[in-house]
Amino acid sequence: MSEGKFIVVEGIEGAGKSSAIKIIESVLNKYNLSFIKTREPGGTPLAESLRDIVKSASHEEKLTEETELLLMYASRSQLLENRIYPALKTGAWVIGDRHDLSSRAYQGGGRNFDDSVMDAIANVTLKGFKPDLTLYLDLDPEIGLSRAQARGELDRIELEKIDFFHKVRNKYVELANADDAIVTIDASQPMASVHNDIESAIEQFIERKLAR
Ligand code: TMP
Repeated sequence: MSEGKFIVVEGIEGAGKSSAIKIIESVLNKYNLSFIKTREPGGTPLAESLRDIVKSASHEEKLTEETELLLMYASRSQLLENRIYPALKTGAWVIGDRHDLSSRAYQGGGRNFDDSVMDAIANVTLKGFKPDLTLYLDLDPEIGLSRAQARGELDRIELEKIDFFHKVRNKYVELANADDAIVTIDASQPMASVHNDIESAIEQFIERKLAR
């Protein structure tokens, strides 16, 4: 049995990750590919506890940027070992709501951690493991955040100033342009066009893999 593939959806808050994941699910179903879904931070009982810490805006004690960075990777390590690697080994595909690119963009871009620091922690945690395909949903943070605001109460990270999200987006764009395994989707288009772009990116990826 061949190994499954790991497809990740990335983007700032309000970019439309949840809708994108639904589209990917329906394409995988059409091709009869079995899959699991994960989210980061989170996705295992322990990693979900870390997610609560990272997202909660009501700590008595301020979370340091270093703690935030390390918790993202701690959560990722638990998820890889306990869910992602085992699923891929059995031939299942994995749809990830965020992965390492989020840390590169939010902690590397937003919090200004050096590439050398990011590389070191990523190497310890991932040991060279990478998604097979990442869809990056690109959107102006002003639009994304107003959508997130309309959805309800903002979490600790969503409460950051707009400048932070511009830095996050710039890093996403820089990294997406430098990596063939990342497809950028213009999430500012009308919904039907975003839908079509996502569907055709996934279909092309599957067709390429099946042709091998
Ligand atoms: P979300 O999954 O609801 O978008 O929430 C996750 C939040 O955590 C979001 O603000 C992005 C942030 N995040 C990081 O800062 N670094 C990471 O590595 C990951 C996975 C998420």
